[in-house]
Amino acid sequence: MSLVFYSRSDDPEPWRAAIAAAVPDLEFRVDPDIGNPADVHYALVWKPPQGWLAQFPNLRAILSLGAGVDALLEDPQLPHVPLTRMVDAGMGRQMAEYAAHAVLHFHRHMPRYAEHQRVARWAPLEPVAARDFAVGFMGLGVLGAQAAQLVAALGYPVLGWSRTPKSLPGVEGFAGDRGLAAFLARTRVLVNFLPLTDATRGIIDARLLAGLPRGAFVVNPARGGHVVERDLLAALDSGHIAGAMLDVFETEPLPAEHPFWKHPSVVVTPHVAAVTQAADAASQVIDNLLRLERGEAPVGVVDRGAGY
Ligand code: NAP
Ligand code: GLV
Repeated sequence: MSLVFYSRSDDPEPWRAAIAAAVPDLEFRVDPDIGNPADVHYALVWKPPQGWLAQFPNLRAILSLGAGVDALLEDPQLPHVPLTRMVDAGMGRQMAEYAAHAVLHFHRHMPRYAEHQRVARWAPLEPVAARDFAVGFMGLGVLGAQAAQLVAALGYPVLGWSRTPKSLPGVEGFAGDRGLAAFLARTRVLVNFLPLTDATRGIIDARLLAGLPRGAFVVNPARGGHVVERDLLAALDSGHIAGAMLDVFETEPLPAEHPFWKHPSVVVTPHVAAVTQAADAASQVIDNLLRLERGEAPVGVVDRGAGY
């Protein structure tokens, strides 16, 4: 029995060590040393090239190293075996930190004080009470729910929008197309935690941004494909959107000439809002391998119809 590992951004060694300790009879192979593809039963992957997984005729399951599986589902040759994703696996806390940081950054006028510091300008701004600074989360799944609850614990009014209605302590829920306009109208900081699917691609466009109050902020730690970048730039340039903190982009790495890099109202981070780490996530992979070997259903199986 063997597992093949593919990632251009994760070190295979901590994964090899953790899996070898728990499943010693599993051979761990790392691309490009994949040996005979017919011996490979499991694939542990982040963004393999399209068609790469189709070379393994006896694959039993594909285990994603990430929470979002949009890149895998775009592969027209993706084998028809169970596909699992990371469910929290240490990322919930990291995402909650990222979201809380972004909210505090914008609420406490940090971008404007940074501008003032560059020109040695001492100019206190009018404080805004947290109770008047509602934060709206699009996506209340594993990561969005944790981030929403940390922000609620900081004393902000928190709104959440999801496909199906959700009831979370401290979070006022809105659902579906019918709930979107009311959700947006009250949101001062929009934080996106949606998966990238056919239904959500390009959702943060001119129309959605126009539904936010003037001076709102946008935080995107989900996927670049959610944002129509030219629409966000236009909304920032017009002042309708006062600032954005962006971790993910249509093209990654973000090209050096992209206007987001130098935009005075944009904070760019390099797809690091929540990073899969073997120390937190290997136990979930091991648990799934053992379940699969026992013939049981793994956790985090992706609903290919829904796309997440
Ligand atoms: P999840 O548990 O699957 O949650 C997805 C949420 O989005 C659910 O609340 C779902 O609604 C909602 N949703 C899906 N389609 C919708 C639609 N059409 N309209 C309204 N709501 C919709 O996902 P997760 O684990 O929280 O992860 C979210 C995303 O974060 C991932 O897909 C990935 O893209 C991104 N991510 C980014 C990083 C990074 O470092 N930047 C790291 C990890 C993950 P229901 O509750 O009704 O199903
Ligand atoms: C990272 O972007 C992930 O989906 O885990």
